[in-house]
Amino acid sequence: MNIIRAKDYHDMSQKAAAVLAAQIIMKPDCVLGLATGSSPVGTYAQLVAWYENGALDFSKVTSVNLDEYKGLSGDNDQSYRHFMDQHLFSKVNIDIQRTFVPDGTEADSEKACQIHEQTIADVGGIDLQLLGLGHNGHIGFNEPADTFTAETHCVDLTESTIQANRRFFASADDVPRQAYTMGIRAIMQARKVLLVVSGADKAKAVKEAFFGPITPQVPASILQLHKDVTLVADEAALSMI
Ligand code: F6R
Repeated sequence: MNIIRAKDYHDMSQKAAAVLAAQIIMKPDCVLGLATGSSPVGTYAQLVAWYENGALDFSKVTSVNLDEYKGLSGDNDQSYRHFMDQHLFSKVNIDIQRTFVPDGTEADSEKACQIHEQTIADVGGIDLQLLGLGHNGHIGFNEPADTFTAETHCVDLTESTIQANRRFFASADDVPRQAYTMGIRAIMQARKVLLVVSGADKAKAVKEAFFGPITPQVPASILQLHKDVTLVADEAALSMI
């Protein structure tokens, strides 16, 4: 694993954006696996700035997102489709038809997950998967569990995740209780993985994920078995290792 130490959130975002930019420059028709949440916001902002000054071209890029709340449509401003539109898709020249986010409006969980799994296969797998890290060690919405789940699946969000995400909603009651998430197989089969982590509140999760036992109780710990993982983390997030 390659650990890149950043000074702070801004520095982390610049460095992570540089890794993504290199991927797009090296392979313009690459498949990016994308994440939502606070961690990648600065990374996307830097990518948008490089697109605006002509340094990056997204016209041949395909993207596949990690997850989506079950029950939310893309029009809902809390949906992950909306997040991606707001922070990246509407601001660069990516072909929106080649941006794939699980369909939160599909009530049939099995169908929604099968479609997303098939999409990942159809686009030829993921060249570079961007990930954030949950306080409980989750990646995507692969929550701590007794076993790893390989394929895209519907999850019941844990109380810790609901509480962490309530800041985006009017109240904790408004946070959806279920989400569709890419499974561990697609993440592990991504040719490269880039994890962005910031803040002292993530330090314990970083320590457990990368320096603790490999266990489904800390889903990110499976990344210890991936052959090409880059962790870009700020000093606060690295403070326990
Ligand atoms: C988001 C996702 C989640 C987040 C994680 C960290 O698509 O899959 O695993 O990456 O919850 O969230 P933030 O960055 O908001 O701390």
